[in-house]
Amino acid sequence: MQQLEKPSLSYSLSDWRQGYESQYQEREYLIDDIEGEIPLDLSGTLYRNGPGLLDVHGTPLQHPFDGDGMICAFTFDNGSCFFRNRFVQTKEYLEEQKAGKMLYRGVFGSQKPGGWLANLFDMRIKNIANTNVLYWGDKLLALWEAAHPYRLNPENLATIGLDDLDGVLQKGDVFSAHPRIDRTSQFNHGKPSLVNFGIKQGVSSTITIYEFDELGKIIQKYSHETKGFCFIHDFVITPNYCILFQNPTTYNPLPFIFGLRGAGECLDFDNSKPTKIILIPRNTPHEKVITLEASAGFIFHHSNAFEINREEIVVDSICYEQLSQIDPDNSYKEVDFDKLAPGQLWRFKLNLATQKVTKELINQRCVEFPSIHPDNVGRDYRYIFIGATDHPTKNAPLQALLKLDLETKQEQLYSFAPKGFVSEPVFVPKNNASGEDDGWVLMLVYDSRHHRSDLVIFDGKDISQPVATLHLKQHIPYGLHGSFHSAK
Ligand code: FE2
Repeated sequence: MQQLEKPSLSYSLSDWRQGYESQYQEREYLIDDIEGEIPLDLSGTLYRNGPGLLDVHGTPLQHPFDGDGMICAFTFDNGSCFFRNRFVQTKEYLEEQKAGKMLYRGVFGSQKPGGWLANLFDMRIKNIANTNVLYWGDKLLALWEAAHPYRLNPENLATIGLDDLDGVLQKGDVFSAHPRIDRTSQFNHGKPSLVNFGIKQGVSSTITIYEFDELGKIIQKYSHETKGFCFIHDFVITPNYCILFQNPTTYNPLPFIFGLRGAGECLDFDNSKPTKIILIPRNTPHEKVITLEASAGFIFHHSNAFEINREEIVVDSICYEQLSQIDPDNSYKEVDFDKLAPGQLWRFKLNLATQKVTKELINQRCVEFPSIHPDNVGRDYRYIFIGATDHPTKNAPLQALLKLDLETKQEQLYSFAPKGFVSEPVFVPKNNASGEDDGWVLMLVYDSRHHRSDLVIFDGKDISQPVATLHLKQHIPYGLHGSFHSAK
């Protein structure tokens, strides 16, 4: 029988690019175009954040990470879903809306029109609040890693303003977009706590760890200095440690200062240096910081970490061989995926006694944006739900949902190729769940065939088919992170 050769590409660049068109409209409506049925026990709100504008009044951005944050909220109640999207009205967003033109450079390379002279010595940072959104205590917060969070009204997503977390953040402090929730924190009497970090750059960089109780009140705050520039986007926790991977990067700010390059384009990956793995004790006095070394690699996101015993710790991360440099001369829309280093899931084993780190590849497929059962953050776990490529080995845009069983090594994949492009999945445990994968997986998918986005719901136990597909009336540009909150 003649074998039909699978097309080498599961996507077209022009389809993929359409998902990066700006979404100018803010809307709210009950979603009425639904395939399948929304589970009746799915109750609460999925919040998503990501760049909503990929241009500022007609000036295209050099990198999507520079786009103004737009929040989407999907509120589930009794088998229905209400959708709402609104921009985070940051000070800079409002100024640019009023001026009708771009007033700020973007950290990732977007320059004001007018060449280097127009950007010379303009060191102002635009807080775009576009990376994550999280409900904690009684606050809904839009997060961006180089500034204070913005507080939003959870009822209608209206922006309340910059938030210093009840005086915890001082002027100039930053709060990362990747907090971790410890569901049974020994520092909060076994109740949930929110742990996060912020980094102040310098010749020596200062990592500050914050831990809050379930009401948003600070429990502990402590700092550690590490040599060199720190490009650390995410971290992991275990019951006893905060663990940060200091990617081997150097930073030369001069092209940024002189208006020639964006700050993000001044980063260099140095594969002659190791990745430093910094373990900061969560226990007071937080002094016995352990620093280990692994071969060079670049990590944006971790899946999870856990302690096997007092001496052995496991960290699962999406690791790239190198940081793909931002090309200042080409638009991100012209990307050649074959030339980019693929992100793959690796397991790092840290031995605190021997100070040795080993790593092994968990799965060959290119993946990003992991999600796990929230009760297992910092603890041994079995299942990962993650955005994945359609092709089993080649680099490409994310077009599929992958479920990985770390115990049996089995995997299940649902692909939206060739026309669909996925975002981060969010795993929501069912009420009275009967296992770690017994929950709903929510995923926003861009459908290039109709130039609109769908919110797709899977049953975590079996992702061979969606349970429901909710068609929005418009597209949502590719987003970054989000979270689920059970209050309606
Ligand atoms: Fe991230």
